Amino acid sequence: MNGALTPNQLDSLWMPFTANREFKSNPRLMTSASGCYFTDQNNRKIYDSLSGLWTCGLGHNNQYINEAITKQLATLDYAPSFQFGHPTAFELAERIADLMPKGLDKVFFTNDGSESVDTALKMARAYWRKKGMASKTKYIGRVKGYHGVNFGGVSVGGIVGNKALYGQGLDTDHLSHTIIPGNEFQKGLPAQGAYLAEQLNEMIALHDASNIAAVIIEPVAGSAGVLPPPVGYLQKVREICDKNNILLIFDEVICAFGRMGAYSGAEKFGVTPDIMTTAKQLTNGIIPMGAVICQSEIYDAFMANSGDISAIEFPHGYTYSASPVACAAAMATLDELENQNIMERVNGLSPQFEESVHSLRDLPYISDIRNYGLAAGITLTHKDGSPVKRPYEVAMRMWDKGFYLRYGGDTVQLGVPFITTPDEIDRLVNALGESIENK
Ligand SMILES: Cc1ncc(COP(=O)(O)O)c(C=O)c1O
Repeated sequence: MNGALTPNQLDSLWMPFTANREFKSNPRLMTSASGCYFTDQNNRKIYDSLSGLWTCGLGHNNQYINEAITKQLATLDYAPSFQFGHPTAFELAERIADLMPKGLDKVFFTNDGSESVDTALKMARAYWRKKGMASKTKYIGRVKGYHGVNFGGVSVGGIVGNKALYGQGLDTDHLSHTIIPGNEFQKGLPAQGAYLAEQLNEMIALHDASNIAAVIIEPVAGSAGVLPPPVGYLQKVREICDKNNILLIFDEVICAFGRMGAYSGAEKFGVTPDIMTTAKQLTNGIIPMGAVICQSEIYDAFMANSGDISAIEFPHGYTYSASPVACAAAMATLDELENQNIMERVNGLSPQFEESVHSLRDLPYISDIRNYGLAAGITLTHKDGSPVKRPYEVAMRMWDKGFYLRYGGDTVQLGVPFITTPDEIDRLVNALGESIENK
């Protein structure tokens, strides 16, 4: 199959987060995948430098996960999760809770990152109501934050291009992002910038803690171009939230399940949120699934304040919450993360990845490089007054060289598969250097 499409087929699909007109004038189609590589419509091998969309760290076409899904399909293809259940959902919930920092004990299933975020936001507001503090409804997000595309996530998100078209959202305010002058080209966590967390105190002074439900941040902001937290920043945010009775939500849709070299950013950075959102790597991206993990105290507040035992404590959930096939994919993914010693592998590869990516720093057109774990973002200088033109051109040159490269805003982003080799990282970074230099 060469994936050739008719003009009408190309025209029929409205593609997500895509420059549709550009794509349709120059289609880039993947037709199969295995390990770290796609095959494109021209039968070329394409290295997957973002693990799909930060999803497929274990690589593509993992036979162990595929078999678990196939077996599940033949056993229990679907079961409702409202008022009835199936065993794997409970087994998976226990397993996820066991992998998370102490205190994060209760798991609510969704289908993706956006649903996880909106679930967490609703959970936070409802929690305060259950506790008799109904005025706590406001959210604090962060500039450059990405929290998916549903109305809650768009409201707390801080990427202007993703918000501008949609008008009034939820009541939110935004902390500054953490890219500050002097931190360019720092490896890993930037040394300066923890003081930015103090802005939260100013916001509390402005809005009053009695009106604020939650702060939501990505431990490492991903979609805006990989922004690792300054040393001490997350700790400071946690402290201020604690002092003011405000819930802290970590959006770990990219961070969780290996990308940081740990099962969560919370674990890696030693800061435990009240609620954590996950998705993507939970099933290695194969079947849509997300999980929101919260402290027992939150769950208990719902159980204790919902009246009769037959009352639904949290009127929220999705038709496909904990679908058996997604649960089977997640169980098998967690097996593989463990059996392949993925945390050790990511921690082992990260220093070379860091050195390799930062070797590009003296090339023209690069204004910053940031990295953590197996994630890196490179900011490129504007071209012809446009922030997005150069990243697009670089990504197209990379495609011609046999690399899928994620471009967004004024950045290109790398999230190599956990199973990649040092040699593949070097080849990727060499090709990227040439593409930035326009060779
Ligand atoms: C931090 C974060 N939150 C939420 C989302 C939304 O996830 P989804 O696209 O699965 O809805 C993403 C997606 O990249 C993300 O990176």
